[in-house]
Amino acid sequence: MSPFPPFIQRHGRIALRPLSDADVDALLAIFGDPEVVRYWSGSPWSGPEDAHRMLAADRAAFDAGGAIRLGVSLRDENRVIGTVSLFNRSESNRRAEIGYALARSAWGRGLMHEALAQWLDWAFGPLGLHRLEADVDPENVASRRSLERLGFRQEGLLRERWIVGGEVADTAFYGLLAREWQARTQR
Ligand SMILES: CC(C)(COP(=O)(O)OP(=O)(O)OC[C@H]1O[C@@H](n2cnc3c(N)ncnc32)[C@H](O)[C@@H]1OP(=O)(O)O)[C@@H](O)C(=O)NCCC(=O)NCCS
Repeated sequence: MSPFPPFIQRHGRIALRPLSDADVDALLAIFGDPEVVRYWSGSPWSGPEDAHRMLAADRAAFDAGGAIRLGVSLRDENRVIGTVSLFNRSESNRRAEIGYALARSAWGRGLMHEALAQWLDWAFGPLGLHRLEADVDPENVASRRSLERLGFRQEGLLRERWIVGGEVADTAFYGLLAREWQARTQR
């Protein structure tokens, strides 16, 4: 039995779907871009083996019930232009962390907002989460704005939490509760 309920697709510009080996080139185009991973805890991908490694790790984490990632594409187009994920899921506390990335060519059109709104509907609906969290570099303004537009609140600033390639970075820690999301979407 799947550890996650099926994702429910809504209407709009965006479709979310499972990733497969057929998406390796598109994923490499996204995560091989230094601008996309600029605020992440890792380096840009250098080849298809990085994509295969992520897909294998995703499958193991999915089977264990700890994480799930879907590809984001434009409706009626199969090519993946981004991903959304939930990870560090705690079933007993009904919480998880959220992750997301979009190819640079797709930035600035509100597409991730649409994708994340669907993702939150599913996470707080069929999946039954009580709380979602996000760990963001305070300098990643587009990501912070994306979260705030969905109703996430900054709950703390964790100093010098990451050291990536010798550079030290803080974490802006965000949270959103199911009842806050439901109050926003039922207005
Ligand atoms: C974060 C990300 C997914 C946002 O996706 P997007 O579809 O381009 O987002 P939007 O077009 O809705 O823009 C989000 C907001 O940030 C603002 N913004 C974007 N770039 C900005 C910048 N450089 N400075 C200030 N504000 C910026 C936009 O004006 C918008 O604000 P608004 O909601 O008040 O209008 C995308 O930038 C991305 O993939 N970044 C790289 C990966 C990443 O950092 N992921 C998150 C890790 S925590």
